[in-house]
Amino acid sequence: MTLGSHLTPLARSHIVQSDVVFAGLSDGIVEAWLQRMHPDVRSLQSYYREGKSRQTTYREWVEVMMTELRAGKRVCGVFYGHPGIFAWSPHKVIETARAEGYAAHMEPGISAEDCLYADLGIDPGRFGCQHFEASQLLLFERRLDTAGYVVLWQVGHVGDRSLARFTTGPAYRQVLVDLLSQDYPLDHEVIVYRAATLPIQQPRVRRVALRELPHIELPAEETVVLPPARTLTPNRAVQARLAELDALEEAGVPA
Ligand SMILES: C[S@@+](CC[C@H](N)C(=O)[O-])C[C@H]1O[C@@H](n2cnc3c(N)ncnc32)[C@H](O)[C@@H]1O
Repeated sequence: MTLGSHLTPLARSHIVQSDVVFAGLSDGIVEAWLQRMHPDVRSLQSYYREGKSRQTTYREWVEVMMTELRAGKRVCGVFYGHPGIFAWSPHKVIETARAEGYAAHMEPGISAEDCLYADLGIDPGRFGCQHFEASQLLLFERRLDTAGYVVLWQVGHVGDRSLARFTTGPAYRQVLVDLLSQDYPLDHEVIVYRAATLPIQQPRVRRVALRELPHIELPAEETVVLPPARTLTPNRAVQARLAELDALEEAGVPA
């Protein structure tokens, strides 16, 4: 996620030892830095085009990586953050490679999610934490747990059913806000978060009322966090059942 500091020694060694490196990075500076590590780094960014389905682009990424693998090369795909988080091609290329009998493996990385916990001081174990791709939340019936954190990814192009737009506008975000307002008050404070991608940067943390979300600029690389809106509700029935078990144990009756 952050240039230099977040690359694990093991990931670095895979990059250096491969024959060809494919780079699915969000930042030209990070790509230039990667190029200093290996003589054959091929950018995957040029496959993106406004108006072209991202799904087509992601299938093409799998194909170009597989072509080199089938030609007998050791191939390394480098993706920002964790390659397996909100990323289709890395999972797919590993699945395809294995199905064709090649050894393939994913190295975990430091995700925007990891940075978010650190920068915002959130422990997902405290109240629980749900993660949703923002468009999926709109397109499918999901149940939000407002006693825990809810993290929304890809809000910058929420509601883009074509998968072909880089951003969607305020009207689309208003649909998201309308849906969220079924569970949250409109003055609920949401956090719009951007992790630092360069060591000289600071994380960007903006706190706005839910109703403001359609009206702020929201770049593709930002993530939205909804903090809990209510306290945890005790489950009295389960607590009573556990108390009965405890009483039996105390009485020496095997549970
Ligand atoms: C295709 S996903 C890739 C996520 C990436 N694999 C990871 O592990 O962080 C893109 C989404 O990740 C989130 N994201 C990407 N860069 C970010 C950053 N610098 N700070 C916060 N969230 C970011 C945003 O929600 C964005 O829409």
